[in-house]
Amino acid sequence: MKAIVVTDKAAGTAGMKLVKRPEPQAAINDVVVQVHASGFVGTELTWPSTWTDRLDRDRTPSIPGHELAGVVTALGYGTTGLSVGQRVFGLTDWTRDGTLAEYAAVEARNLAPLPGDVDFTVGASLPISGLTAWQGLFEHGRLQAGQSVLAHGAAGAVGSMVTQLARLAGAYVIGTGRAADRQKALEFGAQEFVDLDNDVLEDVGGVDLVFDVIGGDIGKRSARMIRAGGTLVSIVGPSEARPDHGLAVDFVVESDRAQLSEIVQRVRDGRLQTNIGNIATLDEAVAAFNPSKRISGKTIIRVRP
Ligand SMILES: NC(=O)c1ccc[n+]([C@@H]2O[C@H](COP(=O)([O-])OP(=O)(O)OC[C@H]3O[C@@H](n4cnc5c(N)ncnc54)[C@H](OP(=O)(O)O)[C@@H]3O)[C@@H](O)[C@H]2O)c1
Repeated sequence: MKAIVVTDKAAGTAGMKLVKRPEPQAAINDVVVQVHASGFVGTELTWPSTWTDRLDRDRTPSIPGHELAGVVTALGYGTTGLSVGQRVFGLTDWTRDGTLAEYAAVEARNLAPLPGDVDFTVGASLPISGLTAWQGLFEHGRLQAGQSVLAHGAAGAVGSMVTQLARLAGAYVIGTGRAADRQKALEFGAQEFVDLDNDVLEDVGGVDLVFDVIGGDIGKRSARMIRAGGTLVSIVGPSEARPDHGLAVDFVVESDRAQLSEIVQRVRDGRLQTNIGNIATLDEAVAAFNPSKRISGKTIIRVRP
């Protein structure tokens, strides 16, 4: 099969190569999925799980990309709940070969059925950004209707999901980002927008929940804006500052079939929009992940045309 591999940690996305690899076999409780569309988060290449397995053994050349939409082609021993021919989507294990390939072996529990009226390209764009937003807002942030949310990077992949899901839950959302992203963030539902290069973040006042996708100085300043009892949720590592009278949580997204189904249902009924910036084939993937100009939104690789 065709697959993208990485072998050199220092090279980043520029070191990605399109090669031929053997098709994966289904282990216990796995399915093999014929990948129709695949997503990728650039920081995967900085994570140990891309380069070594759970016992710290070198696993290069490894296949990156950990979200997919496709069709089940084989079941491993003991696999239940999914069948051959079924459309699925989901988030795959970080320490196994990923989804920038024609086939991927995945534990069945990491996948959810993809309804027939949802395109594979849309399905592949949802797992990481959708689950991260859901888990950050509702599990770690314990968001309640009527609370205020500072959604950093609100025009980005995760931030646009945070903005929409928080609004759907009855929160007041202040988005942030680049000046050029103001309109996009407002279209995703932000009620106010802070241009981080030109506006003063602190003018927003106190908020109940900060969803930080940026970190560094922005993360530190955001911690000071959290009201008593509020939460700083970070997905870019532990915050350098903590709220004085609130909670600071950092987490890595996990697969969850029930949450995937909740997210895709909101896409089907028009309450949630995906944020796809570019679509490329597997042959074009290396170039697509090394763009010559800024692209806002996710790059999705359409593995099968
Ligand atoms: N922990 C987890 O489970 C998890 C899950 C998913 C993602 N992540 C991480 O979360 C981060 C965001 O992911 P994403 O997929 O949403 O990325 P993305 O689509 O690039 O979105 C990030 C947005 O924030 C903006 N931004 C970043 N720094 C900024 C700054 N200093 N001032 C103003 N705007 C800024 C970006 O604009 P520019 O493009 O112009 O910088 C972009 O619009 C990444 O580091 C990713 O690795 C973590």
